[in-house]
Amino acid sequence: MQFTSQGQKPLVKIENIAEYDGQSVRIQGWKCKGRPSGKIQFMELRDGTGTIQAVNLKNLVTPELFDTAKHIGQETSLEIVGTVSKNERAPGGYELTVEDMAVICQTEDFPITPKEHGVDFLMDMRHLWIRSSRQNAILRIRAEIMRSISEWLDNHGFLRLDCPILTPNACEGSTTLFETDYFEGKAYLSQSGQLYNEANAMAFGRVYCFGPTFRAEKSKTRRHLMEFWMVEPEMAFCDQKENMEIQEQMLCHVIGSVLKNRMHELQVLGRDIERLQRIKAPFKRISYDEAVEILRSKGVDFKWGDDLGATDETLLAEDSDTPVFIVNYPCACKAFYMKPDPERPEVCLCSDMLAPEGYGEIIGSSQRIDDYELLAQRIKDNKLPEEAFKWYLELRKYGSVPHSGFGLGIERTVAWICGLDHVRETIPYARMLTRIYP
Ligand code: 4AD
Ligand code: MG
Repeated sequence: MQFTSQGQKPLVKIENIAEYDGQSVRIQGWKCKGRPSGKIQFMELRDGTGTIQAVNLKNLVTPELFDTAKHIGQETSLEIVGTVSKNERAPGGYELTVEDMAVICQTEDFPITPKEHGVDFLMDMRHLWIRSSRQNAILRIRAEIMRSISEWLDNHGFLRLDCPILTPNACEGSTTLFETDYFEGKAYLSQSGQLYNEANAMAFGRVYCFGPTFRAEKSKTRRHLMEFWMVEPEMAFCDQKENMEIQEQMLCHVIGSVLKNRMHELQVLGRDIERLQRIKAPFKRISYDEAVEILRSKGVDFKWGDDLGATDETLLAEDSDTPVFIVNYPCACKAFYMKPDPERPEVCLCSDMLAPEGYGEIIGSSQRIDDYELLAQRIKDNKLPEEAFKWYLELRKYGSVPHSGFGLGIERTVAWICGLDHVRETIPYARMLTRIYP
């Protein structure tokens, strides 16, 4: 099918359609819904930035075009020329009266229809499922979260310096490493950029890395992925108190940005927006000791010294309006690099930030050990390969300073902000215990 007017009309994105009220424009996209009826056809067109209702009136177009439009299937790609007009009743507030249309790829039998499908089927169809309005909204919110995190850090003196994915050693425990051949030797996919961040912080002051991290966790929960994205800021001359304040400020900026720039998407998801609007700093700080008491008062048989599990985290923050910091965990249940509290060495200068509404931990953070002897001892106690950690230890020899940092998991943050019950929809292609397709 040929356009008569192609090239003469402005090519417009649906998100900007309001600027073209009354004008004839060109839109490239895909048909997502349609209902032909007699002399008038309604078709919903999406272009990745939004959707618009196209109206095809029999008396305005050629009989050939009218007939073609009647038979094109869901997800047919096309280009339409039409006049934009305001219509309060149309989804999005504008509609397009068709003048001309060119089919690019006719589609039949698109496997995902407006009827209900099971999650396994949809995950198998993930390459097509991401076209749906709900998935589109989630992934656009994800992008806004990532954008606004970088924006806040860039505006607050942090330098982005990315860390290697292929590494010779573990950061977060050797039991969850993905191992791969590295020529004559072995390498591991990075669990965290933190150790390199610490070196970078000593060179640049405030830094962050932002990238994929990998954990071979045999966990089949709604919070675990094998490949997830983490933003990890690291600050020289910074104690744990300031570290937590930075987290609060950054997160409030992110929530504000999503509310400002992605309100439509939150509405598509049916998110309780007031709950997000209530989030303000400062967030509550609860010591690990207090958390144990709270859990016991809620009937949990909890032993001091154990790490908090997913259900414990849910219980601790489900009634809270804002996220909650759990501070000063026992050193025995945390990572080797965390600095013990000088006044009470059995607990660490650390915190986990738990999201409200039962979403659990979204940030892990701590002040780092800055003393050479103590860190060397911790590496030994944890039976870590000393040769691989030699460079890391040297940071405590050459101008060591108090320093702190944190890691925020993007997918768990997206799940919480979008109000989803599983992380599998928060990343374009989830890598899970039993799934690496598509
Ligand atoms: O608490 P974690 O293990 O902390 C670190 O890796 C530190 N080295 C970070 C740092 O201080 N630079 O992980 C940080 C966050 C968690 O709070 C969680 O949000 C997310 O990463 N996370 C996961 N998200 C999805 N799937 C998994 N398997 C995750 N493991 C951790
Ligand atoms: Mg953690």
